[in-house]
Amino acid sequence: MIFESHAHYDDKAFDKDRDLLLERMQEQGVGTIINVSASMRGVRDTLALTERYPFIYGAVGIHPDEVGELNEENFSWLQEQCGRKKVVAVGEIGLDYYWDKESHEQQKYWFIRQLSLAREQKLPVIIHSREAAQDTMDLMKEHGTGLEGVIHCFSYSPEMAREYVKMGYYIGVGGVVTFKNAKKLKETVQQIPLERILLETDSPYLAPVPYRGKRNCSFYLSYVAKEIGALKGISPEEVICVTERNAQKMYRLEETEHE
Ligand code: NI
Repeated sequence: MIFESHAHYDDKAFDKDRDLLLERMQEQGVGTIINVSASMRGVRDTLALTERYPFIYGAVGIHPDEVGELNEENFSWLQEQCGRKKVVAVGEIGLDYYWDKESHEQQKYWFIRQLSLAREQKLPVIIHSREAAQDTMDLMKEHGTGLEGVIHCFSYSPEMAREYVKMGYYIGVGGVVTFKNAKKLKETVQQIPLERILLETDSPYLAPVPYRGKRNCSFYLSYVAKEIGALKGISPEEVICVTERNAQKMYRLEETEHE
């Protein structure tokens, strides 16, 4: 079944029909969802979703745009939440020089702290990086070696993707790969092994063609699988099957109720 490795069902875009939508996931072929938090509120809402739905697991972390919320007290609280049974990753964390909401210094400081948190908690990381290619790579080389994780919504060069794969990381591929102008991402998909790709939506954002511009949801990953299959000359079913195994391995969900 489809493994959705990155969604934000706590987002207000789902306030009207969240439960209706989530109740239909399994019949639409989506077996597992990782709900990824970005803010302190997002962490609390993510934990609530993991309690409500057996197939939803959570990632706990503060997005670079929101690190202004962090202080030692909040950070210790985050640390405690990492010990919960259904928390399977630290994320999303990283650098965002596109929105540039917090100073680069602040972003780097809390990125490094959250990487150390993942190491201490023995959890994989979900990395967000936008227009910060070199600084992210530098910090990952210094503070991220030996960790497992995914570079989510990958938007850099195929060369950089190959470098992350060499370091043991996965590459998150979503709706953008179906866009006509996404030349770099299509090349990236062709150049890295399927065993290193995770399917993700980043819902409610980045819906694939033919829903581009609309609210995204995990059902639409079938379009992403189809495009990856076309680029690699394999069936969408194979893409779904292998990426599910990849995600189960990375999030260490191999021995849960999947049979
Ligand atoms: Ni996200």
